[in-house]
Amino acid sequence: MSHQFNEENMAGAGAFFLPSLSLRWYSQLDSTNSLALNEPGLPGGTVIAADSQWAGRGRLGRNWLSPQGLNLYFSLVLYPQLPREHWGGFSLAAGVGLAQGLGELDLHPRIKWPNDILWQGIKMAGILLETKEQRLVVGAGVNVNQEEFPLGLHATSIRIATGIAWRRDLLLAVFSREIYRWCMLWEQGLFDQVISAWRQHDSVLGQQVTIHRGEEAIEGTAVDVESSGALVVEDRHAFRHVLHSGEVSFRKN
Ligand code: BTN
Repeated sequence: MSHQFNEENMAGAGAFFLPSLSLRWYSQLDSTNSLALNEPGLPGGTVIAADSQWAGRGRLGRNWLSPQGLNLYFSLVLYPQLPREHWGGFSLAAGVGLAQGLGELDLHPRIKWPNDILWQGIKMAGILLETKEQRLVVGAGVNVNQEEFPLGLHATSIRIATGIAWRRDLLLAVFSREIYRWCMLWEQGLFDQVISAWRQHDSVLGQQVTIHRGEEAIEGTAVDVESSGALVVEDRHAFRHVLHSGEVSFRKN
């Protein structure tokens, strides 16, 4: 199935036309990110969605459980022209886009660096960016109508938060439009605008955190995010660590 939807972007001082997104929705895939990365010739602005994934990928090498027909699993194809050192910032932009999209449902989620979407401190959605040659794929998994999660998985969904069952196609239109819009703002170099929106949703800056990276754990205060998308953590020796990946956990004083 293939659709087109057009959006006009009115963000910021000036308005500009956002090229149309085109959607391909599959019943089953291994991973929407895999198809979006590997299918030759996919134009920028293509959204690949699936009703289920049998090998959905999460950040840091984890699996992303993707049961049939309950949630959203989708990937947006981009071909950024920005220098590579700024590509990491698309991860902040995508998080802002998804948080803003959820805001349209009157949910006000927080972002945990880089782009975990938390509602009342519990994970509602996650984003995985992957690149191949000139292509950047923004993959998003949003828990929509799932009400029960496997034991040990601390997760929530839009249905749990709102008490309502949602049409996934309508939500996909909103979320992919917002993710695309914020990524295009980043692409245009409007870094301050995106980072300031990210800060408004952020739950990490100013907090005592531990950043886990494999065997390594860095403890300190989260003090800033950079336009590379990196998190800056200041440890107790006032040494600043610039972190490009890792999992944040909050420390109690
Ligand atoms: C995370 O670990 O928080 C990121 C999860 C990203 C999951 C989505 S589902 C659609 C896309 N395809 C994948 O294989 N992963 C992403």
